[in-house]
Amino acid sequence: MITIRKKLIATFLVISLFVGIMVVAVYNAGRNVADSFHELNDKSVSRINALHQMKIDSLVIYSRAVESTVEDNQKEIPEYIQDIRKAEDDFAGAYVTYSQALTNGDSVGPDRLIMDNWNAFALNSDMLTVLVQGATTDKNDIREMREKLEQSQKSFESVINENLDSELAHNQVLTTRVDDMERSLFALILAVLASSVMFATGLGSLVSYRISKPLMQLKSSVMELANGNYEARIMKVSNDEFGDLAANFEKMKDELREKDKMQNEFIMVASHELRTPIQPILGFAELALKGKIATPHALQKILDEARRLKRLADDILDVSQIEGGKMICKMEDIYINDVIEGVIQSLSPLVPPGVSITADLSPVDGFLKGDTERLRQAFSNILDNAIKFTQAGNITVSCSKLKDSDKLEIRVSNEGNGIPTEILPRLFGKFVAKDIDGRNKHGTGLGLFITKAIIEGHDGEIRADNNDRGTTFTIILPALTQESKGLAAQ
Ligand SMILES: Nc1ncnc2c1ncn2[C@@H]1O[C@H](COP(=O)(O)OP(=O)(O)OP(=O)(O)O)[C@@H](O)[C@H]1O
Ligand SMILES: [Mg+2]
Repeated sequence: MITIRKKLIATFLVISLFVGIMVVAVYNAGRNVADSFHELNDKSVSRINALHQMKIDSLVIYSRAVESTVEDNQKEIPEYIQDIRKAEDDFAGAYVTYSQALTNGDSVGPDRLIMDNWNAFALNSDMLTVLVQGATTDKNDIREMREKLEQSQKSFESVINENLDSELAHNQVLTTRVDDMERSLFALILAVLASSVMFATGLGSLVSYRISKPLMQLKSSVMELANGNYEARIMKVSNDEFGDLAANFEKMKDELREKDKMQNEFIMVASHELRTPIQPILGFAELALKGKIATPHALQKILDEARRLKRLADDILDVSQIEGGKMICKMEDIYINDVIEGVIQSLSPLVPPGVSITADLSPVDGFLKGDTERLRQAFSNILDNAIKFTQAGNITVSCSKLKDSDKLEIRVSNEGNGIPTEILPRLFGKFVAKDIDGRNKHGTGLGLFITKAIIEGHDGEIRADNNDRGTTFTIILPALTQESKGLAAQ
C-alpha cells in the first residue's frame, strides 16, 4: 500500500531532486561562463601589459639605434659597429619577448607588430652591413638610415597604439559582457527559483489534491449520512489510508443502515405489540362502566391485559438493554438446581391437565457463577414455551454435569409437534413468534431472544432441536471448578 507518508516523502524527494539539479546546473553554467570570461579578460590584460612594455622597450631600442647613427660621426667605425650590434641584439631579444607575450595573450594582431619589428631589425642589419663593409662613410647615407629608423620607430609606435586602442576597446567589451553575464546569471537563478517554486507548488497541489479528494468525498458522504442518506457511496479512489478509511466507512455505513432498518422495524413491531393489550383494557373498562358486563369479570380481563402490557414493556426494555450492550448480570455463586426448581414451582399452576413435568436434577456439583433473576427469567421462558406448546404428555427438565468437563447441561424437552420449521433458522431473533394450534395467541416472540442473550451473558450456549416426539432445548453453562470453589471458600 502506498501510504500518505510515502507519498509525501516521494514528493519531497522529487522536489528536492529537481531543485538540486537546477541549482547545480545553474551553478555550473554560471561558473563555466565566468571562468571563460575571466580567462578572456586575463589574456586581454596580459596583451595590454605586453603592448605597454613593447611600447617602452621599442622606444629604448630605437633611440639606441638612432643614437648609434650620430650625425657628427665622431666615433670610430668599430664603435658604430659595436653600438649597432648591441641594437641588433636588443631587437632580436625584444622580438622573442614580444612574440611570446603576444602568443600568451592570444594576440589580436601580432603579425604586423612582428613585421614592423622585423623591419627595424632589417634596417639595423642593413646599416651594419653598410658600415662593416665600409660601403659608405657618407654622413648623408647614415642620416638617411637614421631617418628611416626614426620613421620605422614612429610607425611601430603607431601600430602599438592602434593595437592598444583596439585591445582596450576589446577589454571594455569584455568588462561589459561580464557585467551582462552577471545580470543574466542573476536572472537565471531567479528564473530557476521561480520555476522550482512553480514546480513545487504544482506537484504539492497535485499531491494534496490526490490526498484531499478522498477526504472531501468522505466528508460529503459523512454529511449525507448525518442527514440520513445511506445511499451516498464513497469510491475507493486511493490505495492508502484514505482508501482503507473509505472502505471502512462503507462497511460502517452498511452496518448503520442495517441497524437503522432493524431499529425502525423494532419500533414498528414494538409499538404495534404495545397497542394490542390497550384495546381490550379500554373495551372491558367501557363495558363495565356501562354495566354491560360484570365488573369482576371486566377487572380480571383488564388485570390480565395490564400484566401482559407490563411484561411486554419489561421485555422491550430488556431488548433495548441487550442491543445497547447494557444488560448487566449480577454474578454470584448459585446452585442451578435451586433456580430450576423455583421456576418449575412458580409455573406449575399453568400446567394444563394431561401435561406433567418431570425434573431430573442429578448433579450434586451444580454450582455456577450467575445472576439468579436473569437465569430464572431465561428458564421461565423455556419452560413457559414447553407448557404452552404441549397439548398432552410429559415435560422433562434435566440437569447434569458434562463428562470430563466443567460444564453443566440443562435440557428442557416437551412432547408436541415441534418448532415450526419456517421459524427454526431465526428462532432466537426478535419478534419471532408463531401460533401453534391456537396456542400462543399473545406471544410476542421476544422470549427466546432475551433467553439467548442471558445465557450468552453467562458464557453459555443454547440450541433448540426438534425430534420425533417434540422439542428439546439444550443449555450449556460453565460450572464452578473445584479450584474456583476453593478460592471462593477462602
Ligand atoms: N417448546 C416449543 N415447542 C414448539 N414451538 C416452540 C417452542 N418454544 C418456542 N416455540 C416457537 O418459537 C416461537 C418463539 O418463542 P419465544 O419464546 O421467543 O416467543 P413467544 O413464546 O411466542 O413469545 P414471548 O416468549 O415473547 O411471550 C414461539 O412463538 C413458538 O412458535
Ligand atoms: Mg416464550
